[in-house]
Amino acid sequence: MVCLGNICRSPMAEGILQNKLASRKIKATVESMGTAAFHEGETPDRRAIETTKKYGIDISKHIGKQFQPSDFEKFDQIFVMDSSNYNDVINWDKDHKYKSKVDFIMNKAYPGHDYSVPDPYYGGQDGFENTFKMLDNACEKIADELENIR
Ligand code: 4NP
Repeated sequence: MVCLGNICRSPMAEGILQNKLASRKIKATVESMGTAAFHEGETPDRRAIETTKKYGIDISKHIGKQFQPSDFEKFDQIFVMDSSNYNDVINWDKDHKYKSKVDFIMNKAYPGHDYSVPDPYYGGQDGFENTFKMLDNACEKIADELENIR
């Protein structure tokens, strides 16, 4: 799961998907990172922690980190939140080897639309609720897919 700062959207997505996989007893490694390094080492935004907590998911222990080119090999699928994340990740793929692994997370719910999960950082609590609902919808579809291939 990749966003810009790794303190709002992607740690929420990581927690939501991990929670769904755990309840379906599906084993998979889910991590999140940011395209930028400015929140490296930090825990998630308080509003992201509070919003996910309302739904019984604890992301308070997450430690922010930046995307590394080695992540292209480490993970089978790389989900980005918006077009800026997409372009940043694709630019790290110098030899164009990993494009098929990278997709907008909302394409799982609305295939082919390349919808973005809006950045909630500069808005209010409403934005975080909206982020949660969008990510919950997409992660449900990802969990369905993983259930079908195991
Ligand atoms: P995120 O949100 O990419 O969902 O983690 C942001 C967090 C921090 C900043 C921007 C977006 N920032 O500019 O510090």
